[in-house]
This record gives sequence, structure tokens and C-alpha cells, in this order.
Amino acid sequence: MTDSPSPTTLLRVAVVGAGPSGFYATGQLLAEGFEVDLYDVLPTPFGLVRAGVAPDHPNIKAVTRVFEKTAKKEGFRFYGGVELGRDVTPAELADRYHAVVYAFGTATDNRLGIPGEDLLGSHPATEFVAWYNGHPTYADHEYDLTAKRVVVVGNGNVAIDVARMIVLAEEELTPTDTADHAIAHLGAGQVQDVVLLGRRGPAQAAFTNPELLELGELADADVVVHPEDLELDPASARWLESEDAHTTNRKNVEIMRGYAARTPTGKRRRVVLEFLWSPVEIIGDTHVEGIRIVKNRIEKAADGALRAVPTGEEKILECGMVVRSIGYRGIPLEGISFDERGGLIRNTGGRVLEEDGTVRTGSYAVGWIKRGPSGVIGTNKKDAADTVARIKEDAGAGVLAADKPDADAVEAFVRERVPNVCTWEGWRLIDEYETAAGEPQGRPRVKLVRLEHMADVAAGVKR
Ligand SMILES: Cc1cc2nc3c(=O)[nH]c(=O)nc-3n(C[C@H](O)[C@H](O)[C@H](O)COP(=O)(O)OP(=O)(O)OC[C@H]3O[C@@H](n4cnc5c(N)ncnc54)[C@H](O)[C@@H]3O)c2cc1C
Ligand SMILES: NC(=O)c1ccc[n+]([C@@H]2O[C@H](COP(=O)([O-])OP(=O)(O)OC[C@H]3O[C@@H](n4cnc5c(N)ncnc54)[C@H](OP(=O)(O)O)[C@@H]3O)[C@@H](O)[C@H]2O)c1
Repeated sequence: MTDSPSPTTLLRVAVVGAGPSGFYATGQLLAEGFEVDLYDVLPTPFGLVRAGVAPDHPNIKAVTRVFEKTAKKEGFRFYGGVELGRDVTPAELADRYHAVVYAFGTATDNRLGIPGEDLLGSHPATEFVAWYNGHPTYADHEYDLTAKRVVVVGNGNVAIDVARMIVLAEEELTPTDTADHAIAHLGAGQVQDVVLLGRRGPAQAAFTNPELLELGELADADVVVHPEDLELDPASARWLESEDAHTTNRKNVEIMRGYAARTPTGKRRRVVLEFLWSPVEIIGDTHVEGIRIVKNRIEKAADGALRAVPTGEEKILECGMVVRSIGYRGIPLEGISFDERGGLIRNTGGRVLEEDGTVRTGSYAVGWIKRGPSGVIGTNKKDAADTVARIKEDAGAGVLAADKPDADAVEAFVRERVPNVCTWEGWRLIDEYETAAGEPQGRPRVKLVRLEHMADVAAGVKR
């Protein structure tokens, strides 16, 4: 017997996606007396904490300890290596659980919609980040880091991560859990300049302060900001002083003023922040050779937003690689109503909607696939709590009471579909293997990047 409160009858929930939002929801559901089966397409849990968060930020990944505690609770099962849409469908889960919570994140990228976007050497940040973090799907991708200049489009924290990873010094890179293939490649990189291209000004940059400050402390790279970019247009200057602006924006501008006053120290690399430029075309015959950009000015729109408006002044920046870091986007899944504009599951406060706008009983969403790709790991805790509150309300109202197959029947179903499903014990073996491999090198882990290798380790097969 546990002393946790239990719902009126024992209710079983499938949570799909073992990233932060899925794990927070799972922890909260278990605490409320539900049983939870947590599914992920990968045998490895933790979503973007493993495959997104920059490897030189190991402290951020410590949140996995919270998730590990959740996994030890009674009523928890992990089904790794099970893909919703390939191995199981939403309808099949709905038939087997009292409630299904979608937590599968936003795995693809927004598009610029400009000519040359798909040229060799033009890459979405989503894939580059997954590559250096050892996500099995992207392990064989290739990036031409012989380029002298790389342009990163976008002014968010992911753009900063990408820029920083490209210019990290060997002593900053090698102690991390960056995938081995990426350490070798990044270490041999010839890149001298990484240009971060913002379509709006420094006041509107989506960076957060610690991440921006970190750019000023790199061992091998100077950070360059042009003083003239800090002469803000009147609308931006007014906005920055107003209550609408966030302290983060004001502090960002202050940090950048500090950078603009610096004299480069002659480090072998530079991260250059360019503002008020939008990409118009990515240029090259077979491979990226440059990017045509147009100068913008800031204009206040009718809704009060400060928008980038092209002035017509254009120039070409020569570069050998472009990384498009303009936000993540959800992938629509058959059988779940999708909001194309937002790139997320259609939902109201976490309750999934049908195509006609009515609520689909027993289906919920959490995290980035519920609210869109913004917010830090902790944001997903409150977000999950909001959705779990809806599940509790529905359970209390008797809405989720239909008879369902028992836990053993579900286990048999999953194993029939995915015979080598990775359980939590399987993941623990992978975890031990990776951390043991990292220890002699002074690294947190050496990541396995091949699914077959992970499957062998999870099954206890010696290699
Ligand atoms: C590059 C990057 C760096 C970041 N760095 C930080 C940071 O330093 N600090 C911070 O606080 N926040 C950071 N964030 C934000 C943080 O990672 C997100 O807030 C958080 O991961 C979102 O959680 P989620 O569970 O909604 O999605 P995700 O973390 O994306 O998890 C989704 C899970 O669903 C699984 N999945 C996907 N499709 C399927 C399917 N069809 N079937 C089954 N499973 C599926 C995936 O494998 C994944 O495990 C970063 C984000 C990015 C993109
Ligand atoms: N260390 C950390 O804490 C960390 C690290 C990484 C990510 N994260 C978080 O993860 C979330 C996602 O980060 P993100 O960087 O992917 O997204 P983001 O913060 O939303 O930034 C996206 C950037 O892309 C720009 N953009 C969008 N469309 C564009 C276009 N067509 N042309 C040019 N630029 C365009 C945006 O500019 P506009 O503002 O003009 O739209 C913005 O600068 C954020 O909440 C972030 O803070 C946190």
C-alpha cells in the first residue's frame, strides 16, 4: 500500500515522450495515485535534456536526477524505443489507457521560405544540435566546418548554443559529453567567424543574460558587437524603457554595450553579432557560398509589436555554412488534430481538441507540443501541473471511467509490437555503460549513438 491519494478507481495513463514535460507530468500523476506508462521513441529518456541542452552545460542536465526519482516510484513503467505513429497509434493507446498525455515535443524546424534554403551546407539548428548531442537519427550527418565563416540565423539561445559549440576551444570541448563524432569534427574545424544574424535589433534579441554573458568569456573567440548597432531607433529605445520590456532585454542591451566597447584581444576566432538583417537568399552552385541579406528597420505595427521591415538595402555575406536557428516546430501525427499555424497539437489548456473543436475525452498535451517551443526546462513543470489538474478534474467527474485492459495485457501488446522494447532497467544499463566509458576520460559519459549498440547494452549483451 502507498500513502499517495488514489483516484476513485485505479486509472492508468500513457505519457508519450520522456522529455521534461513528460517526466514532470508522470511524477505528478504518480503522486496523485495514477499508474503511468512512459513511452519514448528512443531507448534513452530525457528528451532535449539529453539531445538539446548544450554539452558544455552539464549542470543543467542535473535535473535528470529528479526524473530518476520519479522512475523509482511504484506504478511507473518505461517503454523506450516505441514510436507513436509507427509502432502504436493514438487510437490504440486510447483503447488501452484511461488517459493519454502527449509530450512528444517539437522535433522539426521552422522554415525561412527563401531560395537556396536546401542547398548543401544550409542546415536547421534542430539537426546540428541533435548531431553534436549524439541523437541516433542524426549521428551520420555531415557538417563542413572547413568553412572560414558560418552564419547562424536567429537571435535565440539555441543560436548562441550553436555559435558557442562551433568555436569552443579544445579544453572546453573535450571534457563534455558531446558525441565523439562531433568532438572530432568540431575540434578539427577551421571556422574563424561565426556571424549571429538578428532580423531585429539588440533590444529585441531573445537571448537570456547568462547565455549572452558566456559569449564574452570564451577561451578561443572574441565577441564582436558594432557600436552603431547599440544606437537604438526611437521606437526600440522607448520600448526598452517602458513596462512592456523585460529586465532581460534591458540587461542584454547593457551587456552588448559592454561588448561594443571592447577591443578584440586577437583570439583565433570571433563571434560577430549582426542586427537588423534578414536572409533573402542562400547562394551557391552546389554548396553554400554566401547569404544575401537585406537591412531592416524597426517599425511599430498596429498591434504595438516592433517588427522588422526591409529597407531594400542588400549585401552578400560570404560563408561556407548556414545554420537556421529560427525556432522549433511540432510534427503532425495522424489521428491527432494539429494546429498548423502554431505547429502544435490543438488543445485547450492541455485538453486535446478534435478537428471540429470539441474536446477529445481522455487525451491531453503537455510541454512544447502543447504550448509551442519556448521556455526552459522548469517551465514545463507548471505546464504539466496545469494539464494534470485537468486530468484530475475529468477523473473526478467520472469521465475517464471506461473499462480498459489491465497492465499485463498492455505489456503484452507493447512487446508484440516492439519485441526489444527498452525498459527502465535497460536504460539504466545504457546509462552505466556510458558513464563508465566517460570516467577514464574525465567526461560525464560517452554517448552511445547507434540504436543497435544501445539495444545490445540494454539487453546485457557484452560487446
Ligand atoms: C537546443 C536546446 C537547448 C536548450 N537548452 C536549455 C537549457 O540549457 N536550459 C533550459 O532550462 N532549457 C533548455 N532548453 C529548453 C528545454 O529543453 C525545453 O523546455 C524542454 O526540453 C521541452 O520539453 P518537452 O518534454 O516538451 O520536449 P522534449 O524535451 O523535446 O521531449 C520530447 C520527447 O518526446 C519524444 N518523442 C518525439 N516524438 C515521439 C514519438 N512519435 N513517439 C514517442 N516519443 C516521441 C522525444 O524523443 C523526446 O524524448 C533547450 C532547448 C533546446 C532546443
Ligand atoms: N540556456 C538556456 O537556457 C537555453 C538554451 C537553448 C534554448 N533555450 C530555450 O528554448 C527556447 C527555444 O529557443 P530558440 O532559440 O529555438 O527560439 P527563440 O528564443 O524563440 O528564438 C528564435 C529566434 O529566431 C528568430 N526568427 C524567427 N523567425 C525568423 C525569420 N523568419 N527570420 C529571421 N529570424 C527569425 C526570432 O526573431 P524575432 O524575435 O524577430 O521573432 C528569434 O530571434 C527558448 O525559450 C530558449 O530560451 C534555453
